[in-house]
Amino acid sequence: MSAPLAPSASAAPLAPPHAPVRAAAPSVTAAELLAFALRTAADPAVVDSLPLDPEGRTWIRLDGPGGSEAWVIGWPPGTGTGWHDHAESQGAFATARGRLTEHSLAVRLPSEGWRSLELAPDLDRSRSLGPGTGRAFGEHHVHEVLNDSPTEHAVSVHAYYPPLPLIRRFSRTGQVLTLEQVERPADWQ
Ligand SMILES: [Fe+2]
Repeated sequence: MSAPLAPSASAAPLAPPHAPVRAAAPSVTAAELLAFALRTAADPAVVDSLPLDPEGRTWIRLDGPGGSEAWVIGWPPGTGTGWHDHAESQGAFATARGRLTEHSLAVRLPSEGWRSLELAPDLDRSRSLGPGTGRAFGEHHVHEVLNDSPTEHAVSVHAYYPPLPLIRRFSRTGQVLTLEQVERPADWQ
């Protein structure tokens, strides 16, 4: 059933013409997501509850702050995500066990309207995140995360706000990034 129409007398006043349009501030900031990821990564009761599988990544979903989406993820040696983005979600992650490497691009890419693009030569960034360290990122962040260790399992905590509407997966050959796949929540939940 459709909602009854509100009487016109109670309609919200119109904004004045040419009023500045401001984007709504996110109700959860990237800094809050990072604080949550770091706090949770330091909680053995949560980290130790993750089952580990030497053959592949494992994960459990958590409730993050303010309605955000959060995950604890286990990474066997040599596993990684491949290049992807998180659409309009901002996020953060923190390492709880082992060490993760993040390769990222120091540029904000258009999220739509392209299938393949050539990156300028100076955009690559890498960081290594040991236990108790993490990083936050804004919307349209493109990265890959991997456990480079030949021997040690890694565990990390990730949080995203808004909850991920989709993930775009890319292949990369040299400086050329190509959109390969769009995954939606039904693909990973
Ligand atoms: Fe990611």
